[in-house]
Amino acid sequence: VEELSRQYDAIADAYGDGGPYNMLYERPAMLALLGDVLGLTVLDAGCGSGVSAEALTERGAQVTAADSSDRMLERARARLGQRASVRLHDLRQPLGWAADASFDVIVSSLAMHYIEDWTPVLAEFYRTLRDAGRFVFSTHHPFADYVGFDRPNYFAVEPIGDTWSTSGARYDVTFWRRPLGRIVADVIGVGFVVEQILEPVPASTDGLSEGDIDRLCSEPTFLFVAARKGNHPDA
Ligand SMILES: C[S@@+](CC[C@H](N)C(=O)[O-])C[C@H]1O[C@@H](n2cnc3c(N)ncnc32)[C@H](O)[C@@H]1O
Repeated sequence: VEELSRQYDAIADAYGDGGPYNMLYERPAMLALLGDVLGLTVLDAGCGSGVSAEALTERGAQVTAADSSDRMLERARARLGQRASVRLHDLRQPLGWAADASFDVIVSSLAMHYIEDWTPVLAEFYRTLRDAGRFVFSTHHPFADYVGFDRPNYFAVEPIGDTWSTSGARYDVTFWRRPLGRIVADVIGVGFVVEQILEPVPASTDGLSEGDIDRLCSEPTFLFVAARKGNHPDA
């Protein structure tokens, strides 16, 4: 399997800011779930070309944007300039450059499913979040991949090779499918309290094609999870 970061280097230019699912479905849902970030210190884990990081800086957050693809980061640096700290980082490695309890929020949009073993990654997120800090992420919905890729065993944690076709070119990308129970167990396993699990439909259908609207309003596509460090229901 080709290293995922290199797969994303190849995809970066065609990926741009992401397609309609990113721009019109995932991002609005994620920004709504994050709520007010004014004055908060945020790690965007798997920031890609930096669109969410930009939206968060515009909302007054102090953002560190990290990704393992050089080419994606070039785009993020060009977009963000001095407004955010941009770091080449493979999330499977320890966040050695981040002190304990240094983030108020860690956000990860559509990146966790590229990682096989979540526990060391989640443990680092837990360590670097302050007490009552939030980890909010979106990922492929496990039912979508179970059905969409016609997998024989829902309970397996398994790599899936996908091919994206765009502008006449084809790009290989490998991600990891895992069942819902495993997602929740891994998040809870490092100490987080899961506060929300969301399967949103688009906040607005503006700009989406009829086909996308039909699909997004009737089939699970992305799953969103909001978790908190420690048990602080009123935080
Ligand atoms: C679908 S893109 C999403 C990008 C961005 N969060 C967004 O919403 O537009 C997934 C991103 O995850 C990054 N990624 C995948 N595995 C990673 C890892 N182990 N460490 C850091 N970034 C990773 C990829 O390089 C890619 O930029």
